Amino acid sequence: MIDICVLRDEFLNRFGRDGVAYAAPGRINLIGEHTDYNGGFVFPGAVEQSITLVIRPNGGDKVNAYAVDLRLAGSFGVDDTEGPSDVNLRYVYGVVREMIHAGVDVKGFDVVYGGDVPLGAGMSSSAALECCFAFALNDIFGDGKLDRMTLARIGQATEHKYVGVMCGIMDQFASMHGRKGSLMRLDCRSGEFEYFPWQPDDYRLVLVNSRVKHELVGSPYNDRRRSCERVAEMAGVESLRDCTWEQLEDLRPELSDEDYRRARYVLGEKERVLAVCDALQKGDYETVGRQMYMTHEGLAKDYEVSCEEIDFLVDEARRIGVTGSRIMGGGFGGCTINLVKESLYENFVSEVEKSYKNRFGVYCQIIPVVIGDGARRL
Ligand code: GLA
Repeated sequence: MIDICVLRDEFLNRFGRDGVAYAAPGRINLIGEHTDYNGGFVFPGAVEQSITLVIRPNGGDKVNAYAVDLRLAGSFGVDDTEGPSDVNLRYVYGVVREMIHAGVDVKGFDVVYGGDVPLGAGMSSSAALECCFAFALNDIFGDGKLDRMTLARIGQATEHKYVGVMCGIMDQFASMHGRKGSLMRLDCRSGEFEYFPWQPDDYRLVLVNSRVKHELVGSPYNDRRRSCERVAEMAGVESLRDCTWEQLEDLRPELSDEDYRRARYVLGEKERVLAVCDALQKGDYETVGRQMYMTHEGLAKDYEVSCEEIDFLVDEARRIGVTGSRIMGGGFGGCTINLVKESLYENFVSEVEKSYKNRFGVYCQIIPVVIGDGARRL
């Protein structure tokens, strides 16, 4: 987490008094990628890297915000119907408007925020931002009346309506519900979820950030979603979760090759998530790892959301003998998530750093995964 003193000092300098601090984390996802908006299952966990803010109501109707990492200051009125044009501020604006929409009487406030969730790494820095604001505003102006799932949906609505990314619920769900030491399995259709303690003795999770900036705003992410919706509609089902292999094969002549492959990936991923749940219950991490590699195959070839740098990282992981590796999150850059045997860990990290640098002329970033808590007041 970012040093909270930095934020407190900045708040004091700008606004001449103290505020209250809140944090919300980014996330990893073990398996279940691009299944959330298809009504399927996901397997995320919150991480320690978070967005943190210091906030205080100012008695007026203006929001005065300062993003320390971006050195970006901006203001808008809580009743403003247009909002700011800067993307970063639009997240804040969107959350404010959606909170009001949900019945929370949000008034003006001063806020300073920042964090250590790497931007564009596929670790959901934007969901962390939305959830941090949603949680804080609910606490300050709403007496905590909205539950965590409602706050997660407010974050998601912000992406849809104010930023234009038609994301699923996974990232905001994880940021709101995370629990130290546990992954979560969420049924994205019913909203039911379960905590799975993540404590393998001999394995570690580590992210390798390609540093190819993953950016979902304006990316083909929405196109992937539209492909899935088209196939679901043609199959006469609510979402691809309900589509069987037989239905997909029957439809094949009517589908574009692209839509067919997108749906084929999603149907396969549904099965992989269930296989992973089963394997985890038996402590069979080798099976978990195999499923991760298969997910990567699907995401690279059928869903086409990988890139050369990420494919290289996954190939390297396989060559070095890593148990499982795949691109994580929305895709188009960002990180791989790797399930690595303890005994191989040091070797993997140093080898992959070296070979990535040789191939692409830049260092990749190694991010050990520590599963942390969800949104909270500090
Ligand atoms: C992004 C979205 C999520 C999810 C993932 C892919 O992170 O925000 O809703 O769709 O991509 O699994």
